[in-house]
Amino acid sequence: MKFLYSLAFIIGADNWKLDKVPHEILDTLMEFDKNESQILDLGCGIGKESVFLALQGWRVIGIDFIIYAIHKANKAANAANVLDRTLFISADVSKLSLLKLPPIHFAYDIGCFHLLNPDQMECYIVGLNKIIVSGGVFLLNAFTPRQQGKKTVGLDSETVKNLFSPDFELERTSNHSYWRYPANWYWLRRK
Ligand SMILES: C[S@@+](CC[C@H](N)C(=O)[O-])C[C@H]1O[C@@H](n2cnc3c(N)ncnc32)[C@H](O)[C@@H]1O
Repeated sequence: MKFLYSLAFIIGADNWKLDKVPHEILDTLMEFDKNESQILDLGCGIGKESVFLALQGWRVIGIDFIIYAIHKANKAANAANVLDRTLFISADVSKLSLLKLPPIHFAYDIGCFHLLNPDQMECYIVGLNKIIVSGGVFLLNAFTPRQQGKKTVGLDSETVKNLFSPDFELERTSNHSYWRYPANWYWLRRK
């Protein structure tokens, strides 16, 4: 998986990129204060969303396990003159507990969590639990279940709700997908 992503970034086959920052992110941010909030972008890729948000004045940490993507994210932050509001870390999102991260008020994940295996998902949630403040929001965009060859990939709402309980409450969902496959948005609030 890591190898394939590395290759995709190097040959420029990262065509999952969205044209615009999803309004689901921008709308959710309206409840937060720019001066007091720390944002976390999990599986940030080349940091398109992170840099856009930093340009709006938000402080953003982006994490991705592909060094080349992190290099590109840093380059984009430098070009946008937002290095002071961004931090890009090359790390595995299922090992968040190993990182020294500040308290997070709003975290989002566009298309990374659904790539993990069940053990990695569990570790991801344990790590996220530790850093997200009470009342903070985790916004997840993940594929809904579909057949891929012999495997079923993706997650349904009940699974997401159960995975993140009891520490997060699933407040709402939306089935708006920006990709060619169906995906859901999940608004999970840290209790
Ligand atoms: C579909 S791409 C989405 C990238 C970005 N969020 C976007 O919307 O453009 C999934 C991203 O998750 C990253 N990723 C997958 N598994 C990861 C892991 N275990 N730790 C960190 N990053 C991971 C990949 O390198 C890739 O950048």
